[in-house]
Amino acid sequence: MSKVTVVGAGNVGATAANVMAIREVADEVVMIDIKEGVSEGKAMDMMQTANLLDMNTRVKGVTNDYEATKDSDVVVITSGIPRKPGMTREELIGVNAGIVKQVTDSVLKYSPNAVIVCVSNPMDTMTYLIHKVSGLPKNRIIGMGGALDSSRFKYYLSKALNANPNEIEGFVIGGHGDTTMIPMKRFAAYRGVPATSLLDKETLDKVAADTMVGGATLTKLLGTSAWYAPGAAASEIVEAVIHDQKTLIPCSALLEGEYGEKDLCIGVPCIIGKNGIEKIVELDLNEEEKALFKKSAEAVHKTNSALPC
Ligand code: NAI
Ligand code: 2OP
Repeated sequence: MSKVTVVGAGNVGATAANVMAIREVADEVVMIDIKEGVSEGKAMDMMQTANLLDMNTRVKGVTNDYEATKDSDVVVITSGIPRKPGMTREELIGVNAGIVKQVTDSVLKYSPNAVIVCVSNPMDTMTYLIHKVSGLPKNRIIGMGGALDSSRFKYYLSKALNANPNEIEGFVIGGHGDTTMIPMKRFAAYRGVPATSLLDKETLDKVAADTMVGGATLTKLLGTSAWYAPGAAASEIVEAVIHDQKTLIPCSALLEGEYGEKDLCIGVPCIIGKNGIEKIVELDLNEEEKALFKKSAEAVHKTNSALPC
C-alpha cells in the first residue's frame, strides 16, 4: 500500500492532495494541519467527489496527529505562510524555517524512510534546512520549484507560439526566485523544433521574463500566492517517486560539486524515481548560462546565510 502525507492543508497542500487523489497517485493521502478541522473538512469534501470522479484514493485529514502519517512513502511539506503582494519569497524565511524544522522532526519520527518534497518558501533555502536538520541521504530530499517554473515557462511559450501547451518542451533551472530562476531558452522547443527558430529574440526574451515573474503576477492578482499549478507540480514529483517513473524534472537538489557548486540546494535537472533524486543531470551550459547559474547560486547562498541555524 502506498501512502503520501501532505503537511499543511492550505491552498497548495490541499490542491496537491486533491490532484494526487484524482490521479490515484497513491492508495492513501493524509493531510495534516495545525488548524482544527480544516484538514478533516477538506478530506471529507474530497472523498465526497469519489463517486463523481470514480476516484479510489482514500483521503484522510487530521489536526496535529502525526501518528496518522505513520509509514508514509512520501511527505510533502507545504506548511508555512505564503507570499502577500509585494513580498519576496525570501521575506518568509524566519517564520517558515521554524515551521519546516518542527514539521521535519515530527514526520521523520513516524516515517523514517520517507522521501521528503519541500514546497514551503523560500523553497531552496527550506530544502537546504531540511538537509541540515534531518541528516537524511541527499537523494531523499527534493525541493519543488523547477517543476512549477517549467510549467509556467511552457505556458508562456505556448501562448507566444499559439500552440498546445502539451506539445511544448521547456525547463527552468537555478533558484526558485523572481531574479534567480533561469528559463533555458536554448532548449525550449515545439514538437522538437527549437523555439529559437520559431520566435524572434525579443519575443523569447519576453517569454522568459514573464516566466520569472510568473509567481508574482499571480500573487498580485490573487492577493496570495498561486496554488493550482504549485499543487499539480508537487503531485508530479510525488507520482514520479511512488511509481518509480525515472522522470526528468528540474528540482532543488543538494549539490556537491555538480555545476561547480557545493553546499547549497538549487534547481537542476534530476531523474526522479522511487529513491527520490536518483541522478542529477549535468548539462553542458554555455558561458552565458554558466554566468547566470553562478549568480543564481550566489543569491541562494545569501538567503541561506539568513537561516537561524
Ligand atoms: P496557506 O496559508 O494556504 O497554507 C499553509 C498551511 O500551513 C495553513 O493551512 C497553515 O495552517 C499550515 N501550517 C502552518 N504551520 C503549520 C505547522 N506547524 N504544521 C502544519 N501545518 C501548518 O499557504 P499556501 O498558499 O498553501 O502556501 C504554502 C507554502 O508554499 C508557502 O510557504 C508558499 O510560499 C509556498 N509556495 C511554494 C511554491 C513553490 O513552487 N515552491 C509555490 C506556491 C507556494
Ligand atoms: C510561486 O511561485 C510564490 O513560490 C510561489 O507561485
